[in-house]
Amino acid sequence: MLANLPGGAAFPIRPNAAAAPASGIVEVFDYGRNRPGLLPLWVGEGDRPTPPFIAEAALASLRDGETFYTYQAGLPSLRAAIAEYLSRLYAVPVADERIYVTGGGMHALQIAVTLTAGAGDEVIIPTPAWPNFVGAVTVSGAVPREVAMRFGPGGFAPDLEALAAAVTPRTRAVVVNSPSNPTGWVATPADLAAILDLARRHGLWIIADEIYGRFVYDGVRAPSFRDVMAAEDCILFVQTLSKNWAMTGWRVGWIEAPPVLGPTIVNLIQYSSSGTAVFLQRAAEAAIRGGESFIAEQLARARENRAILLDAFSRENRLRFAPPDGAFYLFFGVEGIADSRALAFRIIDEANVGLAPGTAFGAAGQGAFRLCYLRGTADIAEAAGHLVDVVRRL
Ligand SMILES: Cc1ncc(COP(=O)(O)O)c(C=O)c1O
Repeated sequence: MLANLPGGAAFPIRPNAAAAPASGIVEVFDYGRNRPGLLPLWVGEGDRPTPPFIAEAALASLRDGETFYTYQAGLPSLRAAIAEYLSRLYAVPVADERIYVTGGGMHALQIAVTLTAGAGDEVIIPTPAWPNFVGAVTVSGAVPREVAMRFGPGGFAPDLEALAAAVTPRTRAVVVNSPSNPTGWVATPADLAAILDLARRHGLWIIADEIYGRFVYDGVRAPSFRDVMAAEDCILFVQTLSKNWAMTGWRVGWIEAPPVLGPTIVNLIQYSSSGTAVFLQRAAEAAIRGGESFIAEQLARARENRAILLDAFSRENRLRFAPPDGAFYLFFGVEGIADSRALAFRIIDEANVGLAPGTAFGAAGQGAFRLCYLRGTADIAEAAGHLVDVVRRL
């Protein structure tokens, strides 16, 4: 395939690379990014920088001269810290040999997809979903099969019949992101058991993205595949330091996999990033070992902002939403508005608030908006007021 690049020159690149979808947020972002005072609620991160004790660990590592190549699988001490953290949180033993450190959750996802699906294969993705699932699957050469979730009075829920109907002889994996970006859906143990049952019956992998598992508004953590799985189940967990510890810019995460895949994963890391920088891993270890009170603060903030938004939005009956059970996004629609892209531009002009249009998360997001509320409470209260005003004027 010849891809036409700016300037009229044609360069032959692989069709899968050329087919990588553009982000559905960029256009709106470019329109509003330089507006003075704009509240940027379109991104998937909070406004607080990484806590100093984490940054200090990275600085100390650099000062100590830890600037050399390192273990592809990750520093043994970080793998141990992650395994201990998971064992404590989920009250099940997790072995260090299950953990492989990656360049963020995205790299973990890329490895998960590379392990499971390629040209001619299909991967099922319940939507609305974080767009990088479709992106990673597309780049791998496999075909993403979007399956819309059901929206009812209780919010989004997986459509188990539609998921089962989407399985073909070419299906290799199903992606399950709970708590969900963008919808805030949190899978029940019964949902997870049903999806696991489907995967077992058809010999599919589950790519479990549970990165928002600490951000729940009922209980201490979200239900996990860990609660329903057996050791022999084909499940790959994608994880990241980005959200819990305010480290989106650091690019550290991990993939958790059956230990027998270790040598293969080490090779895939070797031929992509060749390992994560040691100073970043030292910071990650500090975060995981000492970051519980920071997570509690983040959660308290998200909880307060969620309450502010739900209160403001429930006063305007054209706003359609279900309270998110997890993550830190409100996914909402406006009655009578089918084109959220056009309204996202108008909201920038009239409310000075940046929202992600729902279409960025798949066709099932048509007409909706995603608002990230992990920010200062005053910002969220102000944004909620402006948004309600815009909707009243529509
Ligand atoms: C559902 C989900 N998974 C994975 C990631 C990856 O995070 P990162 O690559 O920053 O570690 C994100 C980031 O927004 C996400 O929302």
